[in-house]
Amino acid sequence: MNKVRFYSGEAIPVEMHKVRIVQKLSLLTIGERLTAIQMAGNNTFLLRNRDVYLDMLTDSGVNAMSDRQLAAMMEADDSYAGSETFAKLEAKCTELFGTKYFLPAHQGRACEHILAKAFVTPGSVVPMNYHFTTTKAHITLCGGSVVETPIDEAYQIASTYPFKGNMGIDKLRRAVEEHGAGRIAFVRMEAGTNLIGGQPFSLGNLEQVKALCDQFGIPLILDASLLADNLYFIKEREEKYKDWSVSKIARRICALSDIIYFSGRKLGCARGGGIMTSNEEYYQKLREFIPLYEGFLTYGGMSVREMEAMAVGLEETMELDMISHGPQFIAYMAGELEKRGIPVVTPPGGLGCHLDAMAFVDHLPQEQYPAGALAAALYLASGVRGMERGTLSEQREPDGSERLADMELLRLALPRRVFTLSQVKYTVDRICWLYENRRLIGGLKFVEEPATLRFFFGRLAPLSDWQEKLAAKYRADLGEY
Ligand code: F0G
Repeated sequence: MNKVRFYSGEAIPVEMHKVRIVQKLSLLTIGERLTAIQMAGNNTFLLRNRDVYLDMLTDSGVNAMSDRQLAAMMEADDSYAGSETFAKLEAKCTELFGTKYFLPAHQGRACEHILAKAFVTPGSVVPMNYHFTTTKAHITLCGGSVVETPIDEAYQIASTYPFKGNMGIDKLRRAVEEHGAGRIAFVRMEAGTNLIGGQPFSLGNLEQVKALCDQFGIPLILDASLLADNLYFIKEREEKYKDWSVSKIARRICALSDIIYFSGRKLGCARGGGIMTSNEEYYQKLREFIPLYEGFLTYGGMSVREMEAMAVGLEETMELDMISHGPQFIAYMAGELEKRGIPVVTPPGGLGCHLDAMAFVDHLPQEQYPAGALAAALYLASGVRGMERGTLSEQREPDGSERLADMELLRLALPRRVFTLSQVKYTVDRICWLYENRRLIGGLKFVEEPATLRFFFGRLAPLSDWQEKLAAKYRADLGEY
């Protein structure tokens, strides 16, 4: 898709695939949307999908599958032990990533659970370029703690820095020296760093991280869930590697990592997950946990059909046409919003377009969950479901005080190959309306707050009747839809 240049000079992303299976959508009226979001406790995770017009909650498990993936699912070999499908998937991972062993797990957080069980003990420290919600929860449940040592640019919402997911090498060195290498369970690098807006690391930076880990004898673990986006950005933005093929870049990244794990709900456009390594000792250590928590070693909680689809999906991830679709649609969406003065994360990353809620609703204090309030307001104004990535997604400190997030983002995920450009334009239009009317958006408070990963099930209430007022203004300006 990045091959096409327009005669008119316009910059429109063009798909290198066509839609052959469709799913009907419905758009509720503004009144029905008001009821739906209030029934959902103002938490977009608790909305029913039938009440959602465009589901931009996540890319997890909802990427469009290819005809080749669907065809592969028909020849899956089902058996508890020794499945041919597993052998095929393991061989495909070796071919694509150069790793010797593949340990299957039912999804990404299952890999994190096993890695935390194997490496983290009370008092352990895990430095990383940035945390992810489930990763941090598993590390802290095992008695460890997370320290974030990204470059300073990671925290700048509006920037031109191409690799905001880079590790701050000096900060990492200081963290290792401060805690002592013996207490560092592992260093974790996250590809396409999720919580700071799908931002990539550079291959040059990963090389420096690996050199430092080797110097101190610390394992380097790569979270490759968003590797597809990161591969695209290395090819596009890192001069030194612009002539490398996608698969050569992928193999180099994996050669630098002692262990690689991923959510197959994201990478590979299927549903599942896995851990890869070439290190015999790590393999033996991790292997024990698979039958205990996931399933036998040749399925690990996955359906064999999904494993077949994953093998094909991983192979397709090495195609530039495939991996460029998401980032280019996201760049288009972020660009259209930026043109209209709406605050978004820049440079645009992978995964989704991220609105800067702290600037969008700058009249709301962080204690009133601006990104959560914006997520509820955008659903009201459009039927689009986004995901809060801010203070609601944090856990309280051990003393019960609120831990304010570094950023308050509303993520509008664009699952791969799912939405059309007109749907993206509709979303941009409704965000513009909301921005004009942003002063009507009020805060939220918890009415039910779970202790762990509260953003999944927590219920919130508006602090005033702002939602009724916003709905009335919408009806006056745009009618029922
Ligand atoms: N690591 C990263 C970077 C992720 O983005 C996710 C999931 C996981 C690990 C866990 O994988 O969901 O298969 O258990 N991210 C999803 C999201 C949930 O919506 O961003 P999982």
